[in-house]
Amino acid sequence: MSTAISPTAYNYKVVRQFAIMTVVWGILGMGLGVFIASQLVWPQLNFDLPWTTFGRLRPLHTNLVIFAFGGCALFATSYYVVQRTCQTRLISDGLAAFTFWGWQAVIVGAIVTLPLGYTTTKEYAELEWPIAILLAIVWVTYAVVFFGTIVKRKTKHIYVGNWFYGAFILVTAMLHIVNHASLPVNLFKSYSAYSGATDAMIQWWYGHNAVGFFLTTGFLGMMYYFVPKQAERPIYSYRLSIVHFWALITLYIWAGPHHLHYTALPDWAQSLGMAMSIILLAPSWGGMINGMMTLSGAWHKLRTDPILRFLVVSLAFYGMSTFEGPMMAIKTVNSLSHYTDWTIGHVHAGALGWVAMISIGALYHMIPKLFGRAQMHSVGLINTHFWLATIGTVLYIASMWVNGITQGLMWRAINDDGTLTYSFVEALQASHPGYIVRALGGAFFAAGMLFMAYNVWRTVRASDPAQAEAAAKIAVVGAH
Ligand code: HEM
Ligand code: HEM
Repeated sequence: MSTAISPTAYNYKVVRQFAIMTVVWGILGMGLGVFIASQLVWPQLNFDLPWTTFGRLRPLHTNLVIFAFGGCALFATSYYVVQRTCQTRLISDGLAAFTFWGWQAVIVGAIVTLPLGYTTTKEYAELEWPIAILLAIVWVTYAVVFFGTIVKRKTKHIYVGNWFYGAFILVTAMLHIVNHASLPVNLFKSYSAYSGATDAMIQWWYGHNAVGFFLTTGFLGMMYYFVPKQAERPIYSYRLSIVHFWALITLYIWAGPHHLHYTALPDWAQSLGMAMSIILLAPSWGGMINGMMTLSGAWHKLRTDPILRFLVVSLAFYGMSTFEGPMMAIKTVNSLSHYTDWTIGHVHAGALGWVAMISIGALYHMIPKLFGRAQMHSVGLINTHFWLATIGTVLYIASMWVNGITQGLMWRAINDDGTLTYSFVEALQASHPGYIVRALGGAFFAAGMLFMAYNVWRTVRASDPAQAEAAAKIAVVGAH
């Protein structure tokens, strides 16, 4: 074995840019989440203005947290991981920079158009056609940079984290392009190319796989790199990771109809979606166990390392939400949970507990390395952030479980003469305490992000460019 330092350096500039923007968009997206959660407690916060109503700000929240916060975290970590595991620089600095600026332009487009009411009305695919086209161009460029870097890799083997990132990039391109097929009528309005039940089916094929590939597969790529790195242990089972990969991508794509139970969708399609969702529990837990077991022999590190705690707790929430999801996909359970806050609780168990926590853990691992520091400015502040995030998530999801089940039971209660026992407003009144707890939980989570911003700012301010440059040199390890 020989270790040599090659003269070319990794492109850390684009990774730094995406990493910093992850924190910025995280604060804005989650801050907006707290605001819309507060609107559900105090409706006066809608201010009687069209631009600030819940209906317009809610999609802005989902776009900011999923595509701006989650998307920047995925760009930053995938560019970092692909370079390090392939021991080569990104194929093109220009194209990588284009993906950064193009992605920020898409987000600014969302911030301007959604409050103004320009929307396709398809959930998670709201952006009107000019922005959707820009998004498609940026995404295809991302694929060129990522796969091009894999092609020119110096290593023989492609690390499993890259398989997950690769599947996420390819499938997201396919979903976005197919679901967005539409007929523009003017600059700000288009109509879907599909109609009726077909449109609903394609939309939820997209919507569910946005969860499966954007919010899950990409973040599993992150998990496969950052958990072993932070624990300083090899991944528990490489074989399991391969089985996990193929099983996950084969099954996820079929599960979309569980969003359309008891609708005009053919019954067989609903049952197929339900069956595939239940089977999906197996690969999901395979991945979670693989991540958790990587800590075998390193559990003691959890006592002192809050970054590892973020990563491990995110896996626990991943396990929890991927148990809950298959249960909610069972038609009889879904007849109670659908349209209630239970779904919202499930979403945020995945979104806060899994997606946000793993991203935060990965950023804390990566940022000192990107800025030439040995570690973050304050480990104590990371610990504070960890507890705010964990308590915030638990408050959020527990209040939504209580609300969801209360709403489901109240809506279906009927008197002997067949009339409804409760009016809708009574169920809403019963939900009020839960909305207060949710807003509080969200405020805890968002406050944690402010601690993170301060910690990152102090780390960046004390950065050492020479050290950062040296760290970016490609260490070619292996027998050459
Ligand atoms: C401080 C943190 C957050 C708060 C307070 C918050 C709050 C909210 C609220 C109030 C809603 C609307 C619920 C409703 O319509 O009844 C919502 C929806 C949603 N949020 Fe968040 N959110 C937060 C963070 C996140 C994050 C980090 C993500 C994703 C990574 C996320 C993803 C979503 C999604 C996908 C929906 C739509 C759910 C659905 O339609 O079923 N949120 N959020
Ligand atoms: C095996 C894994 C999973 C299965 C089978 C599953 C299943 C489900 C089901 C049945 C629903 C309710 C559909 C409805 O009644 O409308 C749902 C909603 C949702 N799930 Fe999951 N889930 C899984 C994992 C996850 C994870 C890990 C996340 C987030 C990171 C997530 C995010 C969401 C979102 C955003 C929605 C709301 C969609 C909407 O109506 O806007 N799910 N999921």
